[in-house]
Amino acid sequence: MNSITVRKMTFDFPDDMDLMVIPGDRISSAFLIGASLLLPYLEPYLIRTMRKAIPLVEDKKVQEEMKLFCGQEANHFKQHAQVNDILRQYCKDPEALATLEAEMEADYRGWSKNRSLKWNLAYSEGFEAFTSAVTLMTFEMGMLDDVTHPLAKVTEWHFMEELEHRTVAFDAYKHAVGGGYLFKNRVALFAQWHLLSYGWRMGKLFLMDEADMAPEYRTAEFQRQVRNRGLKMLTKAPFVVLKTYLPGYKPHKLQLPERFAELQAKYS
Ligand SMILES: [Fe+2]
Ligand SMILES: [Fe+2]
Repeated sequence: MNSITVRKMTFDFPDDMDLMVIPGDRISSAFLIGASLLLPYLEPYLIRTMRKAIPLVEDKKVQEEMKLFCGQEANHFKQHAQVNDILRQYCKDPEALATLEAEMEADYRGWSKNRSLKWNLAYSEGFEAFTSAVTLMTFEMGMLDDVTHPLAKVTEWHFMEELEHRTVAFDAYKHAVGGGYLFKNRVALFAQWHLLSYGWRMGKLFLMDEADMAPEYRTAEFQRQVRNRGLKMLTKAPFVVLKTYLPGYKPHKLQLPERFAELQAKYS
């Protein structure tokens, strides 16, 4: 079962949650929070882009998948926005966060208005290809397994659906505007830099101090494991992302994790 399913998820969020999304790993936690904060700006932009492209696509299957893509993305950012609003109270510099959010909104509104559909579709595929690659690596490393923080749960559901619709932006770029390998790669590189830079600048405003972590996470052994996993991710990530830039890259060929159906069932 690999088809795209629009799930109207309603997570039960507590009024309060801490900043330790991944136990003992304050850097990954801050990064996940940063990524969550940018989604209510990014995903509506992806939907606007896709909606403009739908009438240009003749292939009915691709067209249908583009509509389902919009349905999934709309649910993603709504759930993330709820988590973001709870986490906001811990922001170290709300003014800096407001500035970054305003900049993101201006970027995406401006690009929807002033840039070509081809550019916006290439940006969308740049994000989707990066997400699929990183999601596969995250699942492979078991990073979110048994993690109970509400943002980790939302992220696991979100990542699973990102894999479900992994081919849509790629197909939309080809079917709506004719594709173009070098152009896509150039814009994808910019998209990934843009997203990582905003994600980290936002996430940094939520980075926990080491001293504020629970004592069981501060032990030398626990921190050694966290560092090793971080290092493994940092070493592996450039390679998995680089593959999405190769001429033969097709998200249709990606090998899904063995337990993918299990993940789908978990959130269905
Ligand atoms: Fe999404
Ligand atoms: Fe997506």
